[in-house]
Amino acid sequence: MSTLNETARAIVAPGKGILAADESTGTIKKRFDTIGCESTEDRRRAYREMLFTTKGADKYISGVILYDETIRQSASDGRPLPKILEEQGIIPRIKVDKGTTPLAKSPNELVTDGLDGLRARLVEYRELGARFAKWRAVIDIGDGIPSQYCINVNAHALARYAALCQDEGIVPIVEPEVLMDGDHSLERCSDVTTATLLTVFDELIDQRVELDGMLLKPNMVMPGKKFSGGKAAPEVVAKATVSCFRETVPAAVPGILFLSGGQDDVEATANLDAINKLGPHPWQFSFSYGRALQAAALKAWKGDDANASAGQAAYLHRAHMNGLAASGTWTQAAENAA
Ligand code: 13P
Repeated sequence: MSTLNETARAIVAPGKGILAADESTGTIKKRFDTIGCESTEDRRRAYREMLFTTKGADKYISGVILYDETIRQSASDGRPLPKILEEQGIIPRIKVDKGTTPLAKSPNELVTDGLDGLRARLVEYRELGARFAKWRAVIDIGDGIPSQYCINVNAHALARYAALCQDEGIVPIVEPEVLMDGDHSLERCSDVTTATLLTVFDELIDQRVELDGMLLKPNMVMPGKKFSGGKAAPEVVAKATVSCFRETVPAAVPGILFLSGGQDDVEATANLDAINKLGPHPWQFSFSYGRALQAAALKAWKGDDANASAGQAAYLHRAHMNGLAASGTWTQAAENAA
């Protein structure tokens, strides 16, 4: 068993998943705007310190994805934020892409930047303690999109990033996100997710990426947020998602960690739980949620340190519920027990 494989397996240990706290400065500002908090470097630091010092979160959280600014920040007691995570046995990791930019010759589509100088940055991050990295590609569904051209260039970049990570001893989290913002049906999401994953795995294999030394971070298969037919039940999402992955994801991949993509907190938990209740599966299915793990905590914190323990309680509850969902043992009664 390779070291990459051992590391990848540690992250998808049963009942555990990832907190995605790697919002860029622009994205965290949008989140802070919703609670009326100014996005200063100090408030961003205080918010992340509140999350990372939550006692007991390590029972459900195996790793946290950080933004470049955070990996260099310290808590109010002077300890570096990544060190606070490591002291609890939580592995800090880093987002290494540089965000999306309009795709040449197809201005309504996006491609992810960040390959220039990536090997040197990976070496620096490895020296700062990162053992995992993340790269997110975005595929939008709309009139006439996505084009196969957009899927191809994003898949090619994901594979170049993944191969570079493995060369440097870092486990790549490969994130091809098919957005849920549109008015499309579940069937359309399934078709686009299938085409995207097939292309991504073709590229990963062409570029010699070891499939047992990477993790996949995909969307679930579900209708768009503006679909006229409304939401699909967790059992329907689960069946469509598992059937899509059985057609596209090689069993050598150790783990599939979903993004929440704008799902409500409990919806993201219920869907993951329903997916795991359909098991056993060839892969470990877990979570790598950003919004669905943080929304309640952010609302309780309100930008004020006096509310830190309320924020931590809200975060711990969501981490616990998603930990149960990661092993298919979540119940509405556990949800309500908070
Ligand atoms: P969401 O769970 O909010 O989609 O964030 C996950 C993530 O890391 C997106 O890149």
